[in-house]
Amino acid sequence: MTQKQYDIAVIPGDGTGPEVIAEGLKVLNVVSRKYGFQLSFYTYDLGGEHFKKTGETLPDEVLEAIRGRHAIYLGAIGHPEVPPGVLEKGILLKLRFELDQYVNLRPVKLYPGVEIPLKDKGPEDIDFVVVRENTEGLYAGAGGCLRRGTPQEVAIQESINTRMGVERCIRYAFELCRRRNGAKKLTLCGKTNVLTYAFDLWERTFKEVAQAYPDIETDYVHVDALCMWMIKNPERFDVIVTDNMFGDIITDLAAILQGGMGVTAGANINPEGISMFEPIGGSAPKYTGKNIINPIAAILAAQLMLETLGETDAAQIIEKAVMKVLQEDLKGVAAGQMGYSTSEVGDLIVDFIEAA
Ligand code: IPM
Ligand code: MN
Repeated sequence: MTQKQYDIAVIPGDGTGPEVIAEGLKVLNVVSRKYGFQLSFYTYDLGGEHFKKTGETLPDEVLEAIRGRHAIYLGAIGHPEVPPGVLEKGILLKLRFELDQYVNLRPVKLYPGVEIPLKDKGPEDIDFVVVRENTEGLYAGAGGCLRRGTPQEVAIQESINTRMGVERCIRYAFELCRRRNGAKKLTLCGKTNVLTYAFDLWERTFKEVAQAYPDIETDYVHVDALCMWMIKNPERFDVIVTDNMFGDIITDLAAILQGGMGVTAGANINPEGISMFEPIGGSAPKYTGKNIINPIAAILAAQLMLETLGETDAAQIIEKAVMKVLQEDLKGVAAGQMGYSTSEVGDLIVDFIEAA
């Protein structure tokens, strides 16, 4: 039998991105050897440094090359010397939109041994997934301004919601909820009491799609109330589906329930195309080059990538290794507080997998 083979586009990116991606690649190499599949890595130099040198964000030929790969493994995009929006829109959002990665998937799972600010809540209470629409809403870039810089300035930023875009995202969430070993409950997060056009479309679509999933319990929560519930009773959630902007906000809040950015990974998914996997912590300029950033978020992004590619055994062993290291080895999960360096944490995970 021929070995399965995957071409992975690697974008280490800015700040601590390259440091954490290096640890993720170490882990990917060891699991691919152990589980008998082949990974070929193609590295692309994109990000703030590349932009400063060349003025390029994501050139067409790079985008075309990436289209030919099976998945993308991304470190971080963001540079203190580049104005906000340039790299985010020019690279990260462009990849999401061009590759039509219409779901942003953010698992929120508290592993044993990880400290969080909530008292009286533990791993049995915090295990849910946020399905964030990833190609529309306020992120679509619709709007404009008039009389900029004058006292009569007008700024308009519109949220675009299409029936097709909303429906495919909701459908994905129902399917995921059915597959998942959870409470089989899908919560729609919106703001139907104020955003009466956009979330009317979301709510009607949600109810219609729900007809095909009688095995899934459904629930609706306004986004403001959801922020409260997430802290007060996180056990209430199994899968949450929401629009792009609300999803962005609630997943940073949710990250705190699992220990913060050091352990939080996300996937940008096109179920029929090329998906992209990333730690969601950003480029963390103040920790750059110090070998103190936590690589576990990037390693969990690699795990999500393998799971999505169908390499479930390899994905499972990575999760087991992460759980062991979090519970038995690390003193903390924040940068500089692990009791180990970035590369030592990667080594601990590799050692566990090799011995397993
Ligand atoms: C995220 C990030 C991005 C977003 C930024 C960097 C554009 O915050 O992936 O959540 O807002 O989507
Ligand atoms: Mn965000």
